[in-house]
Amino acid sequence: MKINVHLTPLSADELYFTGKTTVVIDVLRASTTIITALQNNAKEIIPVATVEFAVKVSGGMFGGQTLLGGERNTKKIEGFALGNSPFEYSEEIVSGKSVILYTTNGTKAIMKAKFSADLFVCAFINVSSLARHLAELNKDVEIVCAGRSNNFSMEDSVCAGKLISEIEKLNENVTITDSAIASRALSKSFGKSIFKMMKETEHGKILIENGFEEDIKYASKLNSTDVIPYFTGNVLKLMQVEQMAVESSAEEVQTD
Ligand code: MLT
Repeated sequence: MKINVHLTPLSADELYFTGKTTVVIDVLRASTTIITALQNNAKEIIPVATVEFAVKVSGGMFGGQTLLGGERNTKKIEGFALGNSPFEYSEEIVSGKSVILYTTNGTKAIMKAKFSADLFVCAFINVSSLARHLAELNKDVEIVCAGRSNNFSMEDSVCAGKLISEIEKLNENVTITDSAIASRALSKSFGKSIFKMMKETEHGKILIENGFEEDIKYASKLNSTDVIPYFTGNVLKLMQVEQMAVESSAEEVQTD
């Protein structure tokens, strides 16, 4: 399997992802928040690329079962029920609900990769679980770092590198591109203290200025969950480890 990393979403257009296996990473904070919402039993997350579209979609949905969430410049958008802090997506608030989510970089990157055959969302909190799934899938993987305003961001690239190292431990047939080698090297250098690394990033500093240091701490908890969001029918749903085991044994039976 070959692994490639897009250090910013600019390095490919939408059609590039057609039929590919893709992972989108926006550690601070969209990926971390999406994973948390699904862990807390949100029915689904509907990622959107514009605020206008978020409002339009919410207009056509059943009121009480739908929440509008997201941020502009890290702050909750006027008229939205939720911002983009993972702590806002508690079980009490999101259980059984559809969440329409707009974020400056993360949901845009997800929508850019929407033509992928398989599309997953990754953050530090679920990296090992996703690595196991990808190593088993044994398909080429495109990792998209959401970055900031189409620029490189350290935390997404370090997370990409961590994901690659974990896959390499489980699958002997991995080859990696130059950008993947660079991400893995960054992860080896800066991934030992994830919280410290993230506090010093551009986005980390902005979050701290806006009172979200606890979000960074939460996002730095490596492998705190097994949940994997996957994109299907224009929404992100929870793929559980047990479900993956059942699916892969069903595939084995079919190919026998
Ligand atoms: C984004 O998508 O740009 C981020 O999730 C922004 C944020 O920290 O809320």
